[in-house]
Formats: sequence, C-alpha cells, structure tokens
Amino acid sequence: MKIGILSAGGDCPGINATIRGVGKAAITYGMEVVGILDGFSGLLFNDYVPLDERSLSGILTLGGTILGTSREKPFKKKEGDVIADKPQLIKQNCEKLALDCLVCIGGNGTQKTAAQLFERGLNVIGIPKTIDNDVWGTDVTFGFDTAVNIATEAIDRLHSTANSHKRVMVIELMGHHAGWIALYAGLAGGGDVILIPEIPYDMNRVNEELLDRSRKGKPYSIVVVGEGIKTGRKDEPAGAYIARQIEKGTKLETRVTVPGYMQRGGSPSPCDRIIATRMGAYAALLLNKREFGRMVAIHNNELTSVPLSEVAGKTRFVPQDFYLIKQAKKIGTCFG
Ligand code: F6P
Repeated sequence: MKIGILSAGGDCPGINATIRGVGKAAITYGMEVVGILDGFSGLLFNDYVPLDERSLSGILTLGGTILGTSREKPFKKKEGDVIADKPQLIKQNCEKLALDCLVCIGGNGTQKTAAQLFERGLNVIGIPKTIDNDVWGTDVTFGFDTAVNIATEAIDRLHSTANSHKRVMVIELMGHHAGWIALYAGLAGGGDVILIPEIPYDMNRVNEELLDRSRKGKPYSIVVVGEGIKTGRKDEPAGAYIARQIEKGTKLETRVTVPGYMQRGGSPSPCDRIIATRMGAYAALLLNKREFGRMVAIHNNELTSVPLSEVAGKTRFVPQDFYLIKQAKKIGTCFG
C-alpha cells in the first residue's frame, strides 16, 4: 500500500509524534509513506515528500508539524479561488500519486473535510488533533494536555504579582467555542472565577464574588476566561471585556494576560506524546485492515474508531453538569 499523511488546521503539540507513529507502524506493515505538505493545499499543488525511517526519526519531541499546515478547506469556496473543483482535483492528484489512503491529522474542520472526501470516493482515515479537546467522538485529543500545562503555569505565575499588587488578574485562554482548556487550567491553577462558553455568566455575580473575596481580606483574585465566552462585542477580546467590566463594577485594580499561541507551541507533554503515538500506530492498523472512512478515537483509555460521517460537523463541548464543574463549585469556585 502507498499512503499519504497530512496535517491541517491550527498546529498543536504532538502532530510530529503522530506522523512518526503512523509512519513507523505503516513501514513495519510494508507500506510506502509520503507526507503531504501544508494540509490540503499540498494535494492541490502536488507538494509532498517521501517519509522513510530516517525522516521519521528524531521528531517525537518536536512542536509544530514537519509537514506544515494550512487552513485550506477544499469544500469551502472563497473569493479569488482559481481552481473550479478542488475536491475533484484532490481526488485526481491522489490517483496520480497512486495513494491507497490519505491520513488526515486535524481538528473538527479537517475531520469534516475528510468525511466529505470519503463520500467522494477517496479512502481516508482521520486522527483527531487540537489543543481545544473539542473533537466529537473521542474522549481526548493530543495537544490538550500540553496546552493545559502551559496555561496552568501561566496562571501559577500570575499569583505572585496578583498578591504583591492586590489586583484582580484576568487570564484569557484558548479553546475556540469550547471551555476545556479554561476549565482544566482554571482548576489546576486555582482560578477563583472560571468563565467558559458553555455556561452563561452574569457579570453582577462575578463582580459580587470578587468584592466578597476582597471583603473577606483576600488580597487578590484570579479570573480565568475562555476566549469563546459570549460578550456581545466583536471588537474586543473576551479577557479585555471581562477585565473592563470588573474594574467598572468593583473599582478593583485589574490586569489582563493573554498567553495566546504559547498554548500550542513547543514540545508535547509526555502524556500527549503517548496519546499521539498510540493514535498514530492505531491508524496504521486501520490502514492495514483497509478500514477506511473512520476517525481514530479513545474511549475510556481504549483505542477505537468512529465513522467520519458521525464526527463531521459536530463539536464536543463541556457538558454543563460535568463532574469537574460540580466539584469546583463545591470548593467555592464561581462560574458566573
Ligand atoms: O483550534 C486551535 C486554536 O488555537 C483555537 O484555540 C483558537 O481559537 C484558534 O486555533 C486560533 O486560530 P488561528 O491559528 O487561525 O489564529
């Protein structure tokens, strides 16, 4: 068999570990492996590199993706497109390359494209990847653990300045429309208020909580904000908006920190390296069994796969009754 591997969408720690996992296991099965460059763009412009034992060595701990990535969505028409039928061109180029299957490493958008390509007759296998942890059909995605570690360290480092200056520290964390990173890092970092997109908040309650802490003699507060919370303002990031509302409503001195892309940069955590390696090797197993049209998933720590058609177009949000939310509320964490 000859297989192609691509990474698409935002980068995240663990993609290289996954490429290595798929590639090394595929080679063991006797397959030929090529890496498609820059996500689906590489398939439009025939940009690819052979991947062998040598090129797959030494990449386990590397951040980013050795194959590059792009947000190219072949099924979405955009202004200035010169290629009339991108999915058709992708199919033709896969045939020209004699690929038996395409392995797509990516988040929700990528899995949707993979499902659509499969519908068009291309053999595809998906591997979920995102720091946001919001891919439907799997309990976990690699990249998330590293992002939570980085975000937690950022919160840890805010405590000292918050204490010295008696300030409210607002930290805005990534996660797109899901609150997984804010929830986990918020709990791990001891956030006093955690606002996530899945739970509607009341600014008066947030301010009252902060004033109450101040009245009890607590010198500072940490407010963790998921970037996707609703603010009604498109022109102002979530963290800045919340900080402004806090200063206005409480008169407490408030500062905002946005770690941004630091949350998805650098070397993957040991936990993410393991998830990525397991998922990669499992994808090769599916390839060997010719089980196409499926996404690798982890359910209760067991590797499995789910049909891409079931994953496409869905997002995995934090359930409002999630056990960590209930436990955090018991120790007094305010969710607004
Ligand atoms: O999906 C990962 C992510 O980092 C989100 O948390 C964030 O909202 C988005 O990507 C940022 O996208 P871009 O890389 O296009 O700026």
